Amino acid sequence: MQRPSRFLAALFLAATGWSATVSAQPAATPAPAPTAATAPAAAAPAGGIQSANIFEVKPDASADPKYAQQTNGERAKVQPGNNAPMWRQVGSGVTGYSSLPKSEAPEAGNLIQPFVRYPGSLLTNAGEAWRQVRNNWLIPYGGALLLIVVGAIALFYFGKGRINLHGAETGRKIERFTPFERSAHWANAIAFCILAISGLIMAFGKFFLLPVMGLTLFGWLTYLLKNMHNFAGPLFAVSLVIVFFTFVRDNMPSRGDIGWLLKGGGLLSGKEVPSHRFNAGEKLVFWGGVFFLGIIVVASGLVLDKLIPGLIYVRDTMQVAHMVHAVATVLMMAMFIGHIYIGTIGMQGAYDGMKTGYVDETWAREHHEYWYDDVKAGKIPAQRSEPAPPSQTVQA
Ligand code: HEM
Repeated sequence: MQRPSRFLAALFLAATGWSATVSAQPAATPAPAPTAATAPAAAAPAGGIQSANIFEVKPDASADPKYAQQTNGERAKVQPGNNAPMWRQVGSGVTGYSSLPKSEAPEAGNLIQPFVRYPGSLLTNAGEAWRQVRNNWLIPYGGALLLIVVGAIALFYFGKGRINLHGAETGRKIERFTPFERSAHWANAIAFCILAISGLIMAFGKFFLLPVMGLTLFGWLTYLLKNMHNFAGPLFAVSLVIVFFTFVRDNMPSRGDIGWLLKGGGLLSGKEVPSHRFNAGEKLVFWGGVFFLGIIVVASGLVLDKLIPGLIYVRDTMQVAHMVHAVATVLMMAMFIGHIYIGTIGMQGAYDGMKTGYVDETWAREHHEYWYDDVKAGKIPAQRSEPAPPSQTVQA
């Protein structure tokens, strides 16, 4: 017959697959002889669950100098039902025995993860350490960075305004992006927007949406967005690879890039520095955002989606993948907020290039002078895709 607390603990451990400490302890000796207060319990029919009042069983046992070092079995002798030693071990991250196969349930024997110190956390159980990194660093500083970027762009926009063309449009067009290039770009951009919006709401929505829409609606919304995020991720990964190979050639470093960077592209002076098809700012976004951050974001995202074969998906794998993913995606979003701004309201004519595939010669000359010169010299065809849409006037 088991005493109730041991019985409950065993039941709990069996349910969670954790059974080491109790089974490792020597069996508890029978409870002391019943006192007057416990007599009714002793009279209970054999086989039934007995209760023991812990305050009436050796209440001064804690005076023993070795009290804190007792195993669960030793504690049970002096204070039946007091399972503190077992729970202390559970809390310190001990891994016990589980009959479940390691390959299918690698963490079944471990209820609480062992101690670890993640960058920015205290030395504590890994789950708590991850929570500290997320809540004390990723959320406040990640959110602040994005707000600062949006604020800086807003200041620039309202202070200096849109980058307009200086000369009049000629009406003569140059093909800047082929239909294939635009399809690759937009597939990637649409996936990015789904990921960015769903990711931002999952991370920060509870601060600005939850108070407005309430728990039920917010729960459903984040559930929907989380699933959209998981599905858009692989689409983003594939389209990012296509975007990389589509644009890598014209993003190779070239003459004038350093000068362009040193002068900030002439953004503040108002006199744009000449560049080839893509300027050094675009090349920075390409190599920093598409290539470098792209690899980290996609790799960590695929881990979080559990799509990388052969990996063992335990809690610390997911914690590390999550922290890496959060840092890289915030940096990527910060970069692409700038890209999206310039590509839409920030620069006259830029969006038309990606929408229709064609830009005016004046736009080409003012923003990518070396590229324009090469087109005029016939080194780069002004019309690259076939057949040319009849509505486009093409001049080399
Ligand atoms: C709504 C979101 C987006 C908008 C409105 C947008 C807009 C544009 C525009 C207008 C251009 C043409 C720039 C030029 O003519 O020089 C462009 C180029 C480009 N975009 Fe986007 N874009 C968006 C999202 C993205 C995303 C998410 C990525 C990649 C992760 C991306 C990667 C590129 C690349 C690689 C180029 C070619 C120029 C370069 O290599 O820097 N875009 N985009």
